[in-house]
Amino acid sequence: MATTLSSTSTAQSRFEQARFIPPDAIFALTAQYLKDSFPQKVNLGQGAYRDADGKPWLLPSVNKARQTLLEQGLNHEYLPILGLSTFRQAAAELLLGPELFAQRENKIATCQSLSGTGALHLAGLLLKACQNRLPKVYIPEPTWSNHHQVFDSLGFPCESFKYYDHERKDMDIDSYYSMLKQAEPNSVVILHACAHNPTGLDPSKEQWREIAHLMKARNLFPLFDAAYLGFNSGNLDEDAFAIRLFIREMEMEAGVCVSFAKNMGLYGERIGCFLLANNSKQTAVHTQSMLEMLQRSEVSNPPAFGAKIASLILGRDDLRQMWYADMFTMSDRLRWMRKALYDNLVSLGAPGSWEHLIRQSGMFGFLGLPPDIVLELRETYHVYMADNSRISIAGLNEGNVEYVARSITQCLLRIEGLGHHPSAAL
Ligand SMILES: Cc1ncc(COP(=O)(O)O)c(C=O)c1O
Repeated sequence: MATTLSSTSTAQSRFEQARFIPPDAIFALTAQYLKDSFPQKVNLGQGAYRDADGKPWLLPSVNKARQTLLEQGLNHEYLPILGLSTFRQAAAELLLGPELFAQRENKIATCQSLSGTGALHLAGLLLKACQNRLPKVYIPEPTWSNHHQVFDSLGFPCESFKYYDHERKDMDIDSYYSMLKQAEPNSVVILHACAHNPTGLDPSKEQWREIAHLMKARNLFPLFDAAYLGFNSGNLDEDAFAIRLFIREMEMEAGVCVSFAKNMGLYGERIGCFLLANNSKQTAVHTQSMLEMLQRSEVSNPPAFGAKIASLILGRDDLRQMWYADMFTMSDRLRWMRKALYDNLVSLGAPGSWEHLIRQSGMFGFLGLPPDIVLELRETYHVYMADNSRISIAGLNEGNVEYVARSITQCLLRIEGLGHHPSAAL
């Protein structure tokens, strides 16, 4: 018996095959920034809104909803498996607009999710559970890195398509169209609903129409990632254009993964929703029931606090109006800071053209700097940005924008002095 015990205790771990996975680049960058003691350090990494003083912003609408909830008395009971029903209904109405929502209400399935990431994961689980063969998932290149992780981890074959032309520093719409013309029928296409991460470039309304026609012709499933509604134009309805186009005008089945992390500043509350616009009432009932089963086995039921805040904001006219004003405040500050960075780069004589920066919109600026400059900015100037030179415009303010522009200019002038043309380095 003793022999058996000791041989068991010296057995090899069943996790011998675990690989070491390097930490997530953006979270690791934040940790590095936090450790840096340089007083003028600037964090342009993580896509989280900051106010004009570089601080996280508690939205006035969220603050008011929070106070109201506390006055009403909060309980800490479980939510239903699908989440708070008033929140789910209000989120669907918000995404579709009241008219389309009224027409389609009984063909919609919704499930509260762990923010936008959880919504994407639920969408993947549902697609997986409803197909005999896993469909291909087409993902723009570049994109938010977690798209690949979410769908790879569920076993989907993922294929990147060219979204951006690094030479022209602009969208590559022709590559986009030609991918859609050749895509395997029944595949899934990940669509950034607005404010594309990282490029800050979205299709025009006409281009969205063409994309929708091509997708419908090949029976491709549009899966919208709507993490930045309100950040492009300041108006959520304007930013929901593509979602409504596919569902209303094109009458297509579509999935929408919405996050309230950014546009309500509820990053840590993990509040989001997966919405599926079905073709029929029957599939709506069935997919709704499957989402309930999938959610139960994943998280049992979702967190309550963010759902209560969002539900109150979306459900009360005064709070909703405040929230629309808050979204305008955020997007307006981003627009100003983008312009301020551009103006500073131009007036300081930063080599190259910077027109691409003001063509972009939303939370991010995609600078087009080579990796060695990104590293130099981090190590010498304490300016932190993603390795692909994506910056979170929200990290800029009146107090640091000139410093950032000057740091970029100095790095570029230095390599120009060495005989390298900066844009040729890409
Ligand atoms: C494009 C995109 N989609 C989805 C998300 C999901 O964010 P969360 O899970 O925090 O809502 C993010 C967050 O950065 C994002 O950039």
